[in-house]
Amino acid sequence: MKELSKIALAVEPSATMAIDSMFKQMKAEGIDVIGFGAGEPDFATPDHIKAAGHAAIDHNDTRYTPSSGTVELRQAICDRLKADCGLEYDFKQICVSSGAKPCVYVALRALVNPGDEVILPSPYWVSYAELIRMVGGVPVILEATEANEFKITAESLAAAITPNTKCMILNNPSNPTGSMYNRRELEAMAKVCVEKDIYVISDEIYYSLVYDNAEFVSFASLGDDVKERTLLINGVSKSYAMTGWRIGYVAANHEIAKIISNYLSHCIGSPCAVSQKAALEALTASQESVESMRLAFERRRNYMVDRMNSIEGVSCNKPHGAFYVMMNIEKLIGKEMHGQVIRNADDFGTLFLKYGKVAVVPGTSFGAPNFVRWSYATSIENIKEGLKRLEKFLKGETV
Ligand SMILES: Cc1ncc(COP(=O)(O)O)c(C=O)c1O
Repeated sequence: MKELSKIALAVEPSATMAIDSMFKQMKAEGIDVIGFGAGEPDFATPDHIKAAGHAAIDHNDTRYTPSSGTVELRQAICDRLKADCGLEYDFKQICVSSGAKPCVYVALRALVNPGDEVILPSPYWVSYAELIRMVGGVPVILEATEANEFKITAESLAAAITPNTKCMILNNPSNPTGSMYNRRELEAMAKVCVEKDIYVISDEIYYSLVYDNAEFVSFASLGDDVKERTLLINGVSKSYAMTGWRIGYVAANHEIAKIISNYLSHCIGSPCAVSQKAALEALTASQESVESMRLAFERRRNYMVDRMNSIEGVSCNKPHGAFYVMMNIEKLIGKEMHGQVIRNADDFGTLFLKYGKVAVVPGTSFGAPNFVRWSYATSIENIKEGLKRLEKFLKGETV
């Protein structure tokens, strides 16, 4: 048979999902494993949102909607962006799709020609690099160090831009690092983007999960010229514990929004009508549940960070957003543990799962081979037990 698509053949499966499915498989076999791999809140979708989903089915809201989503949902998104981020959009600038993930894809589709460079700060969310390649772009990895809280600087950004650079992807707060840029840092980067004429895909899906009273600043809010070149990505998955409902959106200038809408109309059709009604409820009703989930995440983060830093051989920064901690395993590299030399985070992850019965995500797939990512979107009991197991595992004991 003829060769399959070169672009498709080059796509790597999502490493975060691979670990998660290994963990689920072990669990199904009755093994007592604890998972810190999943990138989704462990909370149930709040009841009032579920009720809106039920009502949508009962009222036969079960047909196609406009390909970019219903006008009422897009208007609700505009209102929420105004209330939470001080942003002014009209509903025609909003394209809703089946999660933020396809929105990143169509945003890249709208911008990138084959061979265009896309700057990607590292450590990066595993899907970005693949999505860039899937549209024929060239990821240009811009490393951010742990010493600088895993943040790039305006200077390093400027130095990475070439005549072929089309855009950068900014993820703020970040998966996998939990880092968050402050206003001053964002302003400096925005200045570079405007001066050098590049677009920014700003993925702000974790914007409501911010700790220590830190101020979240939406990139597009930094000025009209910045907003014009920003493709803002967001959605209901993380803020409202709605990962399975699959509703995300992109907000952009009118021209780009139109292109994206055309694209979506052919490749996705419309997002799930029932989920749109549930998302409408999430965005327009009281935001109390968002705050109570945020507070729970903050308590878990505090425990995890303090406990991890008390364990010999590993360490971590205290992140200010999202629900991830990057554990530094540099001191373990080259050491023999449980009869095997740890060469990188992959080795660590595999051994930890086998002998510690804990699933974490190796940073190798995030461009951070000396780190593993722990998600604290799990109960405090699991977090306590997981870290107890880490301590045992590092002492050479088997769980
Ligand atoms: C940074 C980032 N963007 C987007 C997504 C995808 O979100 P959605 O569930 O809305 O597709 C994720 C999910 O893990 C994420 O971590």
